[in-house]
Amino acid sequence: MLAQIGVLVAVVAGVSAQATAPAWGQCGGVGWTGPTLCIPGWTCVLSNYWYSQCLQGGPSTTTTSSTPVTITPSSKSSSTTAKPTTPTTIKPTTTKPSTTSVPPTSAPPTSAPPTGTASAGPLGPTLLPGNLWVRAVEAPNFHKYLQSSVSGTASSAVFGDYTTAAQIQLVNGQVVQQLSGGKVLYLNVNTSGVASGATYLPTFFAATPNPTGTFAFQGDGLTWTATGIPRQNIGAFLACGTGVPGVYINLGAYAYMTPAGCADETLNYYNGATAVP
Ligand SMILES: *[C@@H]1O[C@H](CO)[C@@H](O)[C@H](O)[C@H]1NC(C)=O
Repeated sequence: MLAQIGVLVAVVAGVSAQATAPAWGQCGGVGWTGPTLCIPGWTCVLSNYWYSQCLQGGPSTTTTSSTPVTITPSSKSSSTTAKPTTPTTIKPTTTKPSTTSVPPTSAPPTSAPPTGTASAGPLGPTLLPGNLWVRAVEAPNFHKYLQSSVSGTASSAVFGDYTTAAQIQLVNGQVVQQLSGGKVLYLNVNTSGVASGATYLPTFFAATPNPTGTFAFQGDGLTWTATGIPRQNIGAFLACGTGVPGVYINLGAYAYMTPAGCADETLNYYNGATAVP
């Protein structure tokens, strides 16, 4: 199975690396499934939410070392009716994500907990000071929460139900799941597929810190960057698998050549008092 995925993603990567949009061509926008890179000497510029276009000038985009940022509307408000949003990829003016942006850690909830709130989870239904929920914000995994596949234990990372959402802290570039008794688990990225051309990488929770790369919040969106592992969109994740899908790092562009069996996702933090569906 893994070998098949490896072959598949290697083929996909080969095609993806060559696809460039022509001069003045479309290179992004909600629903766009064509190329997201422009020919050398042209830059993909966000025009609006629905349309990005190749404009003359700027650095060549034929390499994949650029790290476009993901624009996602803020979703840390306490609204429970927010619609899923699809981010638009644009070329950044700076290629490094901010690593100094720290989410609020002690902001009080802005509204009373809604009914039907979480009843379980490693640290219970109420967000403890300094912790965050981290959740997907796109269908079909809208408001599925980052957690261990076996709740509160070292196991693969999944998009799971709000009732078992993990409480998370971002510490020194690590996504740290808080457990009772002061224990923690770290979100790790399995980078072993990079050498063979994998375009998406599985993640899992382990007792030891993630040795590769840095997690950060850009706005309220979770990003991951690692030296030597180029990403087209540092906030692009994938939900892969049936049932409770696994959390994967997408090394390719958001919503472009999505691997079979996967759905594109971005992950946002949420600091409401309780995880909500
Ligand atoms: C990482 O993935 C490879 C397959 O690509 C697997 O053999 C290995 O056990 C995984 N490592 C961890 C720590 O999960």
